Amino acid sequence: MERLARTKVKDLLGSQPGTEVLAKGWVRTKRGNKQLKFIALNDGSTVNNIQIVADTSLFDEELLKRVTTGASLAVKGRLVESLGSGQAVEIQASEIEVLGDCDPMRYPLQKKDTSFEYLRSVAHMRLRTNTFGAVLRLRHAMAFAIHKFFNDRGFVYLNTPLITESDAEGAGDMFQVTTLDLANVPTHGGKVDFSKDFFGKKTSLTVSGQLEGELGATAVGEIYTFGPTFRAENSNTPRHLAEFWMIEPEMAFYDIYDNMELAEAFVKYLVQYALDNNYDDLKFLNDKYDDGLIARLQSVLGIEFQRVTYTEAVEILEDAVAKGHKFEYPVHWGTDFQSEHERYLVETHFGKPVILIDFPKDIKAFYMKQNEDGRTVRGMDVLFPKIGEIIGGSEREASLEKLEARIDELGMSRKNLEWYIDTRRYGTVPHSGFGLGFERLLLFVTGMNNIRDVIPFPRTPKNAEF
Ligand code: 4AD
Ligand code: MG
Repeated sequence: MERLARTKVKDLLGSQPGTEVLAKGWVRTKRGNKQLKFIALNDGSTVNNIQIVADTSLFDEELLKRVTTGASLAVKGRLVESLGSGQAVEIQASEIEVLGDCDPMRYPLQKKDTSFEYLRSVAHMRLRTNTFGAVLRLRHAMAFAIHKFFNDRGFVYLNTPLITESDAEGAGDMFQVTTLDLANVPTHGGKVDFSKDFFGKKTSLTVSGQLEGELGATAVGEIYTFGPTFRAENSNTPRHLAEFWMIEPEMAFYDIYDNMELAEAFVKYLVQYALDNNYDDLKFLNDKYDDGLIARLQSVLGIEFQRVTYTEAVEILEDAVAKGHKFEYPVHWGTDFQSEHERYLVETHFGKPVILIDFPKDIKAFYMKQNEDGRTVRGMDVLFPKIGEIIGGSEREASLEKLEARIDELGMSRKNLEWYIDTRRYGTVPHSGFGLGFERLLLFVTGMNNIRDVIPFPRTPKNAEF
């Protein structure tokens, strides 16, 4: 084939007819009659296909037989105005080269079963579906928009460690990292001798970059992290992954109100970015799975999120129960809300996203700023329709005395946290931050129902294939 620069399908579909073009991609479908074959070609640049029209008299019959669903092609031809409906332009093929054959008998996407469960078992093919193409492009767009949002505001992207000795949330549930021989673990006084381990101490995969993030914020002012996060909680739900991505901004001189404003502006920016830049993908997902998707995205833009204290929220939920609403889990002051409670507040009671603040201190982490009442802390959760919590954060306890007292009260080791406590020793400042679960955001933006279907290679209990 004569050399000619390849044009991506997305660009071809937006081009004027009349030029000689080269397209490359995978066959989605082939149909037609004795004279003409119509091939829908997709290269992943857009959810839309370019139609190739092949006059059978110009091509070897054997070649056209090899043009099957899944096969990869290079097609040269003239970009012409399309006579058929559905597309503005199509390619009148003059040359077709099969780059890679695809045995139609074995091609896994020909199976009747194209459920999300089945697709998760065929990792390569799964990504080639229209649905995952849309999800992957949206995932990329959101990652890019996240960096842009913070960069435009002068935040510094801070890389925090994945392997750590610190348990940021004080909650356990960590994956241990070790090079010790598990069949022959060295011991000392009846306990595992971690001095023989790779790092000379017990280490794990991080559950959050926040504590290290606070060191960055109290040095350069405003930072954000964006990286993989690991939690070994055995939660087999459509909203939990064992390996997920989290974005954690941390800001010196922000109180809880500044924090709420940033969180709200941030999520709205991301939703607006998706609508502005990925409308085709959103429209595809909207039409195929969830016809309320685009309306739901637009609905969060024009309004102010509802701000409400935990205590007020408990009253609302107790009131609902008194009026006959049934929750699976009981709710009273002091309990951690379940997803059903969060969704009741967002979807039934307020009808918009909710920012909950001032939680009982016993259900939140040690580092949250303690309120004057002695029983609540300045935590902040952002709750969204269909999902529940997508952001968790807080103003941090800036007082050395109060922080140390809380660490002691919880029976945690101050010694392991000295490097962190130092931020309160040397020029402590009021500061705040939050964590956005990247895949929770994507659940909202794509309208997908299961968090496993917004990440290319999901890790969940008993599942680490590929
Ligand atoms: O509420 P979390 O546990 O907060 C923190 O980790 C804080 N250190 C954040 C901070 O203040 N810098 O987690 C934050 C968010 C949750 O709101 C949720 O969206 C997501 O991370 N998340 C998960 N996403 C998927 N799978 C899991 N197992 C998740 N656990 C938390
Ligand atoms: Mg949380």
